[in-house]
Amino acid sequence: MKFFIDTANLNQIKEANDLGILDGVTTNPSLMAKEGITGAENIIKHYVDICNLVDGDVSAEVISTDFAGIVREGEMLAALHKNIVVKVPMIKEGIKAIKYFSSKGIKTNCTLLFSAGQAILAAKAGATYISPFLGRLDDISYDGIQLIEQIVHIYNIQGYDTQVLAASIRNPVHIVKCAEAGADVITSPLDSILALLKHPLTDIGLEKFLADYNKGNK
Ligand code: E4P
Repeated sequence: MKFFIDTANLNQIKEANDLGILDGVTTNPSLMAKEGITGAENIIKHYVDICNLVDGDVSAEVISTDFAGIVREGEMLAALHKNIVVKVPMIKEGIKAIKYFSSKGIKTNCTLLFSAGQAILAAKAGATYISPFLGRLDDISYDGIQLIEQIVHIYNIQGYDTQVLAASIRNPVHIVKCAEAGADVITSPLDSILALLKHPLTDIGLEKFLADYNKGNK
């Protein structure tokens, strides 16, 4: 399972990349705004900065909602760097655009996806990735992990190449459950990735090993 970080924060991207386990980055307009990155020029420059930091796929989201606009924006974004993946919303015009990008060899990430039916359509259109938002489903009392399992199952039996990129991760248990469910990729905030490191017995055990080692040095 690949690990992407879900942020536009360059320090957090660097920190995750330094761990040596980072395979890519996802962003969205809200994550950009959270970092104070606004205006087309600044946003475009920020995508390039991210691509220069991480050797892996970087999702850059279009804001157009009509086919011509999505195509125009997506082609501009894809031309910024070889690692850019054009993030397209799960709407009718988006599906048409994903089909178009797929025929041109431009990688896509179909975002704002909340059902197995949407996942089937995106795969048929040739999306490189789909992003089911599992945390947002959990937030409204639907089982996000169950959706990941269902999509992975459908893609396996249908032989779709589209990769399941589990998004809207809220905690480290989500990451473990996505691995169990067979997700191809998770995209997560840094804190949930770092939380995977933690176990109280690791801390207690290490403290004891170091104390015992130091006894011999007295
Ligand atoms: C996906 O690519 C989105 O950027 C993201 O995972 C959404 O997460 P949220 O529900 O925490 O905003």
